[in-house]
This record gives sequence, C-alpha cells and structure tokens, in this order.
Amino acid sequence: ANPSILILAGDGIGPEVMAEVKKIIGWFDAKRGITFDVSEDLVGGCAYDAHGTPLTDATMAKAQEVDAVLLGAVGGPKYDVLDFSVKPERGLLRLRKEMDLFSNLRPAQCFDALADFSSLKKDVVAGLDIVIVRELTSGVYFGEPRGIFTEGNERVGINTQRYTESEIARVARSAFELARRRGNKVCSMEKANVMESGILWREVVQEIHDKEYPDVQLSHMYADAGAMQLCRWPKQFDVILTDNLFGDLLSDMAAMLTGSLGMLPSASLGAPMANGRPKALYEPVHGSAPDIAGQGKANPIACILSFAMALRYSFDLGDEATRVEKAVEKVLADGVRTADLMGPEGGTPVSTSAMGDAVIAALDAS
Ligand code: NAI
Ligand code: MG
Repeated sequence: ANPSILILAGDGIGPEVMAEVKKIIGWFDAKRGITFDVSEDLVGGCAYDAHGTPLTDATMAKAQEVDAVLLGAVGGPKYDVLDFSVKPERGLLRLRKEMDLFSNLRPAQCFDALADFSSLKKDVVAGLDIVIVRELTSGVYFGEPRGIFTEGNERVGINTQRYTESEIARVARSAFELARRRGNKVCSMEKANVMESGILWREVVQEIHDKEYPDVQLSHMYADAGAMQLCRWPKQFDVILTDNLFGDLLSDMAAMLTGSLGMLPSASLGAPMANGRPKALYEPVHGSAPDIAGQGKANPIACILSFAMALRYSFDLGDEATRVEKAVEKVLADGVRTADLMGPEGGTPVSTSAMGDAVIAALDAS
C-alpha cells in the first residue's frame, strides 16, 4: 500500500499554505513516482462550523490510522467567543493527547540567504542546523497538585514538576534515534543542580544512552547555561533534549536565531506503530494569521518544511526531504520573498502560490 497522509488544513492561512504542500505532493507523484494516499478532513473552527465540534470522532479515528498527519493551523477571531470546550485549539489538543505525541521536534535551521534576519551576527547563525526535542505531554504544565489555594491568610499558586522514569526514557529514545539520522550528538538540558526531577532526568538519559545508544555522543548541560550557549555559539549543538517547560523557552529562543515565523516547521512524534515508524503530526509553528488570511500573502515555507520532515521521519525518504529543503534554499538564494521575508531594503513580495510554484520549479531543476 502507498504511504498514507491525512491533511487537516484548518483555518485562516492553513488552507492557503497547505495548497502549496499539495502541489509538492503532486510533484512527487508525477515526477518521482512516489505516491501518497492523501485524505483530507476538517479541524478547528471549520470543523466546528460543519459539525459543532473542533474534531469529530471520525476524524480522530482517521488520524490514528494514517502514517502521518499534516496540519495547517487552527483558530481565528470568529471563534474567540466560543465556549472553551469547543474552541478550535481543542481539536489540536485532542489530536496531540489521543495520539500521545510526547516528543516535539523543533528544528532551527538557518538558510544562508536569510542570515541577516537573525537576531544574532551572521557568522554565528549561517548554516545553523539544530533540532530541539521537547517533552510535550508531562512535566510542570500537567503535574498534580496544581491550583491556587489559600494558605493562612494569603493565596498560593502551585504547579508540580513531575516526571516518571518511563516518560523520560521514551523522549530520550526519540532524541537518540533522531541524532543517529543527523550529527549523532545529543545535549540534554535540565536543572539537576536545583531540581529533583532534573537529577532523575539526567540519570535516566545517561542510562538509556549507555544501554541502548552508546554510539551517540551525549553531553549534559544546565538549562540556563544552555540558553547562554544557544545564543553564544548555537552551531556547537546537533540535537538538544529537554523537558516541557525548558523546551518551551529554548525552542522559542532558537526560533529567533533563524528569522521569520513563516519559516519554522515542527513535528510531534509518539510511540512506534506496527511498521516501526512513530505516530506523527507535522505542522508549521505559526498560527492561522487572521491579519493576512485570504490575501495570498502567507509564506508557505514553514508548512512545506513540515512536509519535508514527514518525508524524513515518517516515510524514510531522507534524500527526498533534503531535495525539498535544497529547493527552498535555492528559491531563497534567488531572492524570491513573501512579504514576511522582505528586509528594510524593500522589494516586491511574491504571493503564497508564486512561492509554491518557485519551489516546484527548483524541484524540477534538482
Ligand atoms: P500567528 O502565528 O497566527 O501570527 C503571528 C504573526 O505572524 C501575524 O502577524 C501573522 O500575520 C504572521 N505570520 C504567521 N504565519 C505566517 C506566515 N506563514 N507567513 C507570513 N506571516 C505569518 O499567531 P497569532 O496572531 O497569535 O494567532 C492567530 C490565531 O492563530 C489565533 O486564533 C491563535 O489561537 C491561533 N494559533 C494557532 C496555532 C496552531 O494552529 N498551532 C498556533 C498559534 C496560534
Ligand atoms: Mg511557547
């Protein structure tokens, strides 16, 4: 059977950027003889409009069956008034929870042509290619007890950082597996100097490494020092492994090393399926961008690079993933820019669809 993809384009610019990914899927079918079984469904506000829920049980069941889910973005001002239980983002949260996507991959990749966009000096970021692996389903955002309580005559806000050994082990495995497909280096970040969960984190990561991945180069760093190093010399890293809280901060910081939100892909991976590949959902980091939706201005590259990640991590097509990334690199080097990539020197931006066509032309030339 052909590998299967469920496309959930969602709201706002979601369908606009996903249209460009569909062109690329079509290109692989026509030009490379690589055919995907693609189905499409609704998530978020559009699903609420059609069915009164941001994700139907039928869509959820489909997501569990396919090899990879590609998601655009959800949400928009129209839905801000909805009850919390049917808000668009609840559709996304349900997918993440029921697919048990515990490992969130956020690459920070700097294309040379965009190095001037970085908040850092050009030579610090040019050619940068790192991935942050963030634990996504446990830790301080979920630990119990949590709440605002009264203690004596004042209120106290409580969250609990809690990690079990198995939760640490599975995300560590996902980082080591990833490292083997890349630079074979993992740096694990926690605060073992001040946190019990950090001590356990460091121990378990080291144990999994020694038993199962001794070939991968492992180092440990305190997360605060890691933040410093990420600014000072990010190219020292390959894969950074960290928990939910530190990963939230470090991945946003790493994002700014590389420039526009319209460029950033992500993957969320779960446990291996029967075919050995992990359950997976791929999506751009950006949201539905209501301010530019419907105007053909959105940058489709984040979504296109998310598809490239799917090629690499769900379909074992690493060379084809590289082909897509190189095509994006060429288009940027040729000076093709959507509006979000225009520097102060100005110029004429291209539309979403023209950017997709330029990537296709670069693929043709590859
Ligand atoms: P956003 O990411 O949608 O937009 C932030 C800014 O970046 C806007 O000025 C937007 O025009 C720009 N931008 C984002 N993606 C772009 C692209 N591909 N090309 C060019 N410019 C781009 O975040 P915001 O405005 O905070 O949220 C808007 C809506 O999206 C809200 O309803 C929010 O809940 C939802 N959202 C959904 C996410 C998801 O589906 N995973 C993630 C973040 C927000
Ligand atoms: Mg964040």
